[in-house]
Amino acid sequence: MILCETQDQWEHEITSAISNALQAAIKLRGKASLVVSGGSTPKPIYELLSQEDLDWKNVHIALADERWVEPDHPASNEKLIRETLLKNKAKAASFIPMKTAHTSPQEAVTFVNEAYKTLSFPFDVVLLGMGPDGHTASLFPHAASLSLALNTEDIVAPIKAQKSGVTGVHLDRMTLTGPSIATTRTIILALKGQEKKKAYNQANICQDAHEMPVSLFLKADNFNAYWTPS
Ligand code: 6PG
Repeated sequence: MILCETQDQWEHEITSAISNALQAAIKLRGKASLVVSGGSTPKPIYELLSQEDLDWKNVHIALADERWVEPDHPASNEKLIRETLLKNKAKAASFIPMKTAHTSPQEAVTFVNEAYKTLSFPFDVVLLGMGPDGHTASLFPHAASLSLALNTEDIVAPIKAQKSGVTGVHLDRMTLTGPSIATTRTIILALKGQEKKKAYNQANICQDAHEMPVSLFLKADNFNAYWTPS
């Protein structure tokens, strides 16, 4: 875990790590795929990243997960990304939404997998958050169809979280699968505060991915966690 003494250092270190990885991918392969999470933690990172001087027209952005709500709904991750990242210099990037007109993630999964196949794969960068329960993206502990989402060759999978203090009311979700996260060239986990640090330490010794799904990714060579106390 990379300890950042201040919020400002944390924001700048994560932004630089993402920016450097995207530039390297574009230099090597002419384009880069960036997969981003929702939630509150990464908002200041997206604001900073949107101002980075990058070859954004060759950066293709997609979501790590989505609540099955309309893009103008306050809980929409697409709404969050359009408001905090897809602006300033990053406005030139392309974006693939995860929410479709289908009535459920189950009905949309084939369509969304086809859309995600247009991204360079393995993904170049994924920015993850984590809940105090050890979920990441929408890989929630003991969720219905979690086993499938952790063991499929698909890029995304539908999932229905078990209601908890962490899930909120939006239980029907689409998420990156375990393998599509694990194969990403640069996996970044952004963490803030003591509760998240405690959960991260628990995930580091957790042997059961169904208990704390984030534990699947912590040992990968291509993984880094950035934590700040504030
Ligand atoms: C979501 C996110 C989710 C998030 C964690 C942490 O759709 O909610 O993708 O995985 O990263 O729940 O959320 P906070 O950053 O708000 O604590």
